[in-house]
Amino acid sequence: MDFVIDILKKLNVVPVPLLDAQAQVVKARALMEANRAGVFVTLGKHEAGLTVSELAKAHDFSEEGAKVLLDALVGVGYLKKKDGRYRNGRWVKKWFLDPKHSLHYMLRLQMYTYHRLEGLGENLKSGRPAMDFHAMDASHPTPQQETYTRAMREAARLIIPDLMKRVDIPKSATRLLDIGGAHGEYSRTFVRKFPNLKATVLDLAGPVATAKEIMDVEGNPEGLDLQIGNCLSDDFGTGWDAILLVNMVHLFDVAQNLDLFKRCKSALKPGGSLLCVDQFVGISGQRDKIFALVSLNFFNVGGKSYEAVQMRELLAAAGFGRVEVKPLGLRTPASLIQAYA
Ligand SMILES: C[S@@+](CC[C@H](N)C(=O)[O-])C[C@H]1O[C@@H](n2cnc3c(N)ncnc32)[C@H](O)[C@@H]1O
Repeated sequence: MDFVIDILKKLNVVPVPLLDAQAQVVKARALMEANRAGVFVTLGKHEAGLTVSELAKAHDFSEEGAKVLLDALVGVGYLKKKDGRYRNGRWVKKWFLDPKHSLHYMLRLQMYTYHRLEGLGENLKSGRPAMDFHAMDASHPTPQQETYTRAMREAARLIIPDLMKRVDIPKSATRLLDIGGAHGEYSRTFVRKFPNLKATVLDLAGPVATAKEIMDVEGNPEGLDLQIGNCLSDDFGTGWDAILLVNMVHLFDVAQNLDLFKRCKSALKPGGSLLCVDQFVGISGQRDKIFALVSLNFFNVGGKSYEAVQMRELLAAAGFGRVEVKPLGLRTPASLIQAYA
């Protein structure tokens, strides 16, 4: 039915701000809360579905509370209801319960985003971010930081399939540096695809601690080398075949990015590649609409979406001769900028 609402919005005959604000806030909170409480996991264990009473008992909800939550989730298409029993719909099965696609931590992260955006008014006045979300150099990450790193891993799984189709590095490549690589998911995928490759992940202490926790559980069959460091000041050494900068440039200002690009250029082998993935503006109108909203979030947390042309100029100023901009597929608005040293 969403397309009917879309048409009614276009015709301007429904109260659009109410649909966009009140309804979306409640829908978002319902999803976040069901995810946090584990409602989808509980329903996933019962093929025949659960009644309101059964679900209420399993989660220590009041019956009234369980009913309004379940009905709201039916209303927005996430659950199905038949003969008084509630079951997960296909969005839940794919995007919450399938480990390959799960956005569990992403939804947990949105609970922090929701609170953080309370400070938007102050942030717009002062022009300064509400918090330094990226200061993660404490060796024990806070629950929020750990959620963030695990959420970025889920986002990586959305980006990786399209990214790997567009990346152009030779099969003979042996050394990959993944700057700000956190959870290590990009490096793992590269090592699996390029059998001669060894990968080093460089990040602040907090995300590296989370990456170690992930490896403690899942092992490290790809032999990733985790390094604690600061990419704004550390020496990257030399002789890298490829350097990854995924979702990094939006964190830094122009001067920091120029300096980072120059040091990446010096660290790469001649002909090596800098692989920069981010939400670059000016590639398509549809993407730009999404980025306009994303940029407001970046502004609140500290960061910005850059124009692809500006990135080209900065990369040229850093000494990269050939630069290619490659938009990724439909699942993500991100694009790859590959610069050849
Ligand atoms: C938006 S996340 C991207 C993580 C990963 N590349 C991805 O795309 O999933 C930014 C990462 O950059 C790391 N980071 C921020 N500032 C850094 C710095 N100065 N040196 C190294 N890593 C940094 C953060 O700790 C975080 O893991």
